[in-house]
Amino acid sequence: MSRTPTIIRDPQEIRSLCDDERARGTSVCLVPTMGALHEGHLDLVREAGNHGDLVVVSIFVNPTQFGPGEDFDLYPRNLADDLDKLAPAGAALVFAPSVETMYPPNAGTTISVNGITEGLCGAHRPGHFDGVATIVAKLFNIIGPCAAIFGRKDYQQLQVIRKMTHDLNMPVKIVGMATVREPDGLAMSSRNEYLSNEERSRATAIPSGLAAAHVLFDRGEKSVKALLAPVVSSIEGACDSIDYISAVDPASLAPLDDEALAGETMLIALAARIGGTRLIDNTVLGEDRSPLANPGG
Ligand code: PAJ
Repeated sequence: MSRTPTIIRDPQEIRSLCDDERARGTSVCLVPTMGALHEGHLDLVREAGNHGDLVVVSIFVNPTQFGPGEDFDLYPRNLADDLDKLAPAGAALVFAPSVETMYPPNAGTTISVNGITEGLCGAHRPGHFDGVATIVAKLFNIIGPCAAIFGRKDYQQLQVIRKMTHDLNMPVKIVGMATVREPDGLAMSSRNEYLSNEERSRATAIPSGLAAAHVLFDRGEKSVKALLAPVVSSIEGACDSIDYISAVDPASLAPLDDEALAGETMLIALAARIGGTRLIDNTVLGEDRSPLANPGG
């Protein structure tokens, strides 16, 4: 029988618990989240068991990564449901601090990762990745994991965390996991809860567009412009506005010119709005499964 994880709110308390465990030779693996957990998160939690003896999940809706007018207040918070879901996935400890303990009024240090944060979501959400890098660094310092698991759903975020840990010599192995999707291909997201039925059905244009790019790529199409075309037309037809649809190098996130040719792999990343909901998705052609491929098939 799986046990409900122990919930700890105080950073000092979880640090000394993790210290005691490490002193006994236990390795710790962390899965940072903002809660409203779905199968995508739970997949990371299950994977965490392969990288550490003790799995810690943090649940913290981090205010510093939300801009003015974004959905910080609206963001779904349901800790009781989250705990029920975490028990069978193998989490032992849940760290759920308050905003006041994580950001006391005199806090004045921010981590800024350069370069890789300039394009894609970074260009549309000023300060967002500073907020992400800072909270993740704080979580690493509090918990002291030897590994941490992140999703490729937030591909730019994953690369930002990789760069931060490398640049700052943080002794944490970063593991990136494939995007978990609904049966119709829509990437699972806590923000999908905002969609009405009508908006939810329009959202399927996002995975369909990305899947069409996979079909072209698999047939040998290399033109960046041609590979982006079905993504743009599918999303333009269904979404209310587009923040960006970009072809970039998967490692550096450097943009590829429309006239360029794709290499062995190419990342297509996008952010679009349906009603008031901002959805992001991405796929690496030549590496990821198509969003419409049968999971496990
Ligand atoms: P959150 O959006 O809750 O996501 C937590 C982790 O789950 C991230 O690593 C994210 O990439 C991953 N994830 C979300 N949806 C997924 C899906 N459909 N498939 C696979 N993985 C998925 O990302 C954040 O929180 C925050 O920015 C955080 C890193 C916790 C810092 O505050």
